[in-house]
Amino acid sequence: MICSDPVALVPLTVAQMRALVAGDRAAVAADLGYPVPAELTAGRWWTARADLVERDPTDTWSAVRLVRRSGEVVGNAGFHGPPDAAGMVEIGYEIYPAHRRRGIARAVLTRMVREARESAAVRTVRLSIAPDNEPSLGLARSAGFLRTGEQMDPEDGLELVLELPVGPGDPVPDWRAENRDFWDEAAVSHAAGPFYDLPGFVAGRDDLRPFEDAELGPVAGLDLVHLQCHLGTDTLSWARRGARVTGLDVSAASVALARRLAVDCGLPADFVTADVYDAVAALGGRTFDVVYTGVGALCWLPDLDRWAAAVAALLRPGAVLYLVEVHPLVDAVWDDGWTIRRDMLGGGFTREAVEGGTYAAPDASLTTRATWVRNWSAAEVVTAIAGAGMRVELLAEQTVTDNPLPWLERGADRLCRFPAGRPRYPLTYSLRARRAAPATGPATGPATDPRAGGRLTG
Ligand SMILES: C[S@@+](CC[C@H](N)C(=O)[O-])C[C@H]1O[C@@H](n2cnc3c(N)ncnc32)[C@H](O)[C@@H]1O
Repeated sequence: MICSDPVALVPLTVAQMRALVAGDRAAVAADLGYPVPAELTAGRWWTARADLVERDPTDTWSAVRLVRRSGEVVGNAGFHGPPDAAGMVEIGYEIYPAHRRRGIARAVLTRMVREARESAAVRTVRLSIAPDNEPSLGLARSAGFLRTGEQMDPEDGLELVLELPVGPGDPVPDWRAENRDFWDEAAVSHAAGPFYDLPGFVAGRDDLRPFEDAELGPVAGLDLVHLQCHLGTDTLSWARRGARVTGLDVSAASVALARRLAVDCGLPADFVTADVYDAVAALGGRTFDVVYTGVGALCWLPDLDRWAAAVAALLRPGAVLYLVEVHPLVDAVWDDGWTIRRDMLGGGFTREAVEGGTYAAPDASLTTRATWVRNWSAAEVVTAIAGAGMRVELLAEQTVTDNPLPWLERGADRLCRFPAGRPRYPLTYSLRARRAAPATGPATGPATDPRAGGRLTG
């Protein structure tokens, strides 16, 4: 159940804080006129915070607040004190176990961040969270907090420090704007670098993976739209096979570079700048025989059901979605190929600091500070596709990837594989799904391929 009921934050008086430090919950309940639960015990800083408010009754920061919902005390929250000399305030909150997973923590954090923003004295809001407290880390990242360091707390042990700038000139983090800015910058670096090697592509290199032709089937004469097409190398590889192609991407820089690449290659292609969620309107209601997408596309989207609905609306009856994606396990173990550092399931759409360059331009120095990503599991992808009325015909896993990860070996075909002798797991998966054709009408997409199920290729 999600918290639709507003939460109230009730500041405790100095006397109430001191009573709780003394363990006298009954006195506090009598004073407040409603019960307080056994979980409401004083934290170790509460005496210092009571002292601060006692010394300066205009201090609106330091009082501990009770979190009340539907009249019940469900947690406590507060700032650790007034803004420090650098304008930093730290938020702490605790939601009692019986009330967790209901959106209360998010409501509390949102309220307190808003309060901090409203003060001209605050430049940074901080949270300190134990590294294994995934729910709180996920909530912090989805609220735009970025990890800035770690600290050793004498009682609580190692804590990750996450911060959100809130001063003038620091806008509320906006996933669309931050991702678009990142991709506009990345596109320029990618077009100039060796990973996409655009001169090599113009000279005739084919960028599709070895399994794609067989899995999608012939595309000559078909209308194909490539969602999140980036520089258009995959889009134009389909054009070289005779498809009438349209590429769509939210990054205007990517689209401009893709248009130029089409001209340089002498290939007809349409490229449109739009968010994938707006694709139906941006493409003027056109429908296609093939919707193609993938290799690092879905992770940039916060809502797969909405994406799948857009895909379904772009497909003619009987037409197919063909998707080739980074396997979620690779995203989870990205750093070294073994250690799971990112959720493979249920991780949420979170803000991550941009450190270094990109997969294709590791040395690029980008000005974008953060991007928003989510590692979607294969089950989430399949469920969204099925939920939008498409029938999955093929789901395959491959031990090759485009990503030049340092723990893989890159071959002459530009694909990366596990070194010999190392146990393998899927690096890429592909999926073909078909929109139902009307009972009497013929299918318009590529022919149905009887092969389906988990094949391992590469
Ligand atoms: C990793 S690239 C895709 C790479 C592509 N498969 C290739 O190999 O060239 C991701 C692309 O998704 C685009 N993108 C991210 N979020 C988007 C959105 N909401 N709508 C449309 N495009 C988006 C980015 O601009 C970027 O060009």
